[in-house]
Amino acid sequence: MKLLKRAVAAVTAALLLPTPVVNVHAADDNKPTLKADVNGDFLINSQDMVLLSKYLLGAAELSEEEAVRADYDDDGIVDTFDLIGLRKAYIRNAMDTPKGTWIGEGFNGTRYFWFDENGEGTFVRTNGGTITPFSMDKAGSIIMFTLSSGKLASASIAWIDEEHFYLDWGSSPELFTYKSSTRFDKGPYLSGEYISDAGKKYILNSYSGTSDGESISILPQGTSAQFIYEDGSSKEGSFSRMDKNHFTLKWDDGTSENFTRQEITVKNGITYVNGILIANKTYALPSTYAPGGLTSEFNTAFTKMQTTAKKDGMSLSVCSGYRSYSYQAQLYNNYVARDGKAAADTYSARPGHSEHQTGLAADINYAGDWFNTTPEAKWLAAHCHEYGFIIRYPYGKDDITGYKYEGWHIRYLGEENAKLVHDSGLTLEEYLGIDSKYNY
Ligand code: DAL
Ligand code: ZN
Repeated sequence: MKLLKRAVAAVTAALLLPTPVVNVHAADDNKPTLKADVNGDFLINSQDMVLLSKYLLGAAELSEEEAVRADYDDDGIVDTFDLIGLRKAYIRNAMDTPKGTWIGEGFNGTRYFWFDENGEGTFVRTNGGTITPFSMDKAGSIIMFTLSSGKLASASIAWIDEEHFYLDWGSSPELFTYKSSTRFDKGPYLSGEYISDAGKKYILNSYSGTSDGESISILPQGTSAQFIYEDGSSKEGSFSRMDKNHFTLKWDDGTSENFTRQEITVKNGITYVNGILIANKTYALPSTYAPGGLTSEFNTAFTKMQTTAKKDGMSLSVCSGYRSYSYQAQLYNNYVARDGKAAADTYSARPGHSEHQTGLAADINYAGDWFNTTPEAKWLAAHCHEYGFIIRYPYGKDDITGYKYEGWHIRYLGEENAKLVHDSGLTLEEYLGIDSKYNY
């Protein structure tokens, strides 16, 4: 048999283009060129093989663009080697299904897709939206997608190389670029309101959000996250979480940003941060707020703690529990009269600013420096979080809490929050990213 070989002068102009890899554009328009897709319909199928075979037999002509696409091995000649390449591409499209995380760019904007081993996957638009699960069936190069809503969509796949393929949805092709083998949708869950130590406020909803008013797309992928800002710029970083309220992004530019969940609500004049009632120098209670005593949660937890402490040879009792607004005013004014305002402000709260008015805080045994030297002080510091309490004004944190060290003042947070705060090693202010400073 005579080997057919026809050199094609027409492709010469096209050869001046850079080596075709992903997105070669034909000279006269912006349509991407897909090798082996001879007739340019974004399907690599028998029609392309027929057209190329006919051409090689001299039974058909190819346009300039068709010749560029037919020149599979890109050697400037359309010959039987290209027909072999085309056949390989055809088989590959029929056989291979993408796996891993891919970024699709096309008429739908930018989307992230996850394809797993078993024909299941998810996608999300990077400009927001929810993750849509789908399942896939493949027949030849056609993939049928069944969305979780029951909606069907089909596309033909055309592989370009190991890291690129097109999906043609019928209107225009969507170019997919390989991202990673890890699932983008099993990454860190970034939802909630956060402040960062870069001074920014973030409202995140997993895959979209705002950063100081600017909208962003967020793509958690495995142990990293990508933030895509309104202007199209993006930042990628590796993610580490300290606890459910704190995470850090080590940005790829070498900087890092610490995020603290901070959801502030005010109800009847009372401020809650992440659901925790706050009374400090920044956040005051209304003068009318008067639970009248320690709350039942406080008392229940305290009794439990007291009982266990006793077994350890420790004697714990409340020496000052609930204090009304007016009683705190009396106390504070007496201290001011005795020591002056500046000194009093380091150890006594102004009325409305004392945690004692919440019914959730108490002084244990003795409210004075001597207590800090007792075994009970040590025991409390080591164990009170197990019962839902924290040492509210730890040593050396005067500038943050607003008060000097008080080993005797415990605050009830509930077991979960007390453990989180204790384990973080932070003061409550640091843990919640809030200040404690008088503004008057
Ligand atoms: N001693 C604490 C700060 C208070 O007065 O509430
Ligand atoms: Zn106290």
